[in-house]
Amino acid sequence: MEHPQQPEDSMSQDLSEAVKAASREVHSQAENSEFMKNFQKGQVTRDGFKLLMASLYHIYTALEAEIEDNKENPVYAPLYFPEELHRRAALEQDMAFWYGPRWQEAIPYTKATRRYVRRLQEVGRTEPELLVAHAYTRYLGDLSGGQVLKKIAQKALDLPSSGEGVAFFTFPHVVSATKFKQLYRSRMNSLEMTPEVRHRVIEEVKSSFLLNIQLFEELQELLTRDTKDQSPSKAPELRRRAGSRAQGEGLRGRRLPWALREGHMARLAASSVS
Ligand code: HEM
Repeated sequence: MEHPQQPEDSMSQDLSEAVKAASREVHSQAENSEFMKNFQKGQVTRDGFKLLMASLYHIYTALEAEIEDNKENPVYAPLYFPEELHRRAALEQDMAFWYGPRWQEAIPYTKATRRYVRRLQEVGRTEPELLVAHAYTRYLGDLSGGQVLKKIAQKALDLPSSGEGVAFFTFPHVVSATKFKQLYRSRMNSLEMTPEVRHRVIEEVKSSFLLNIQLFEELQELLTRDTKDQSPSKAPELRRRAGSRAQGEGLRGRRLPWALREGHMARLAASSVS
C-alpha cells in the first residue's frame, strides 16, 4: 500500500524514504523514456548497448574518482562500499569486450555524458555532501532495475550466460541485493545533515535522474539518426549483425565493415559534443 507522501523537509521521515518518494515521478519518466522502453521490450541493439555502456564508463569513472576523494569525509564515509559497489573495473572489462583492446581510443563521449560528468566533478569538489544523491541514484538503481536489464541484454544480444559483456550489471560481492539495499538505506539514514542540506540532497537526486533521462534521450536520438543514415539496402544486414556476438568473434570478412561502422557511430556521437 502506498504511504501518503510527506513533505520532503519533514525531518521525521528517514532520508531514504524521502528520496524514494521525491524521485518516484522522475523514476517513472526514466523507465518510460523511449530508450528504456525499447530496452525493456528486448529492442536493444548492439550499437545502443555499446553507446550506453561507454557513457556509463565515463560516468562511473568520474563518480568513483570523487568518491575516493571523499571516502573519509563524514558526509560520505558511511556509504563507502568500494568492494561491493564500485563499477569502474567491471566497466573496463565491458569496454574491452565491446570495443576491443584499443577501447580507450574507440569509445564515444557524448554531450549528455559530459554534462553528467561535469556535474559529478562539481559536486565532489564543491558540494561533497551531495555525493550521496548521485551514489543512491546509480547504485541502488543498478541493484534494482539493472538486474532486469542485464537479463534482457543477454537475451537480446545473444550474450553468453557466463556474464561477458555485462560485467557492469554483476555484483559478485553483493550476496543479496535486497539485504544490501536495506543496509545502504540505513547508512543513508545515519548521515547527519541539517534541513537545508537534506533539501539540497533531495533536489540533487531529482537532478541526477534528469541527467540520466537526458542521456537516454540523446542516445535514442543518435541511434535514430544512425538508422536514418543507413541506405534501405544496407539496413537489414546491419540489423542482423546487431545481434551478433562482440568483436573478435568469428570476424573473418567482417572486420572492415564493423570498423567503419564503429567509426560512424563515434563520429555521430562526437558531433553531439558541445
Ligand atoms: C527500464 C528501466 C528501469 C526499471 C525497469 C526499473 C525498475 C526498478 C525497480 C523494480 C525498482 C525496485 C523498486 C522497489 O524496491 O520499491 C527500482 C528501484 C530503483 N531504481 Fe529503477 N528502474 C529503471 C530505471 C532506473 C533508472 C534509469 C534509474 C536511475 C538512473 C533508476 C534508479 C532507481 C533507484 C535509485 C531505485 C531505488 C529506489 C529506492 O528503493 O529508494 N531506475 N527500479
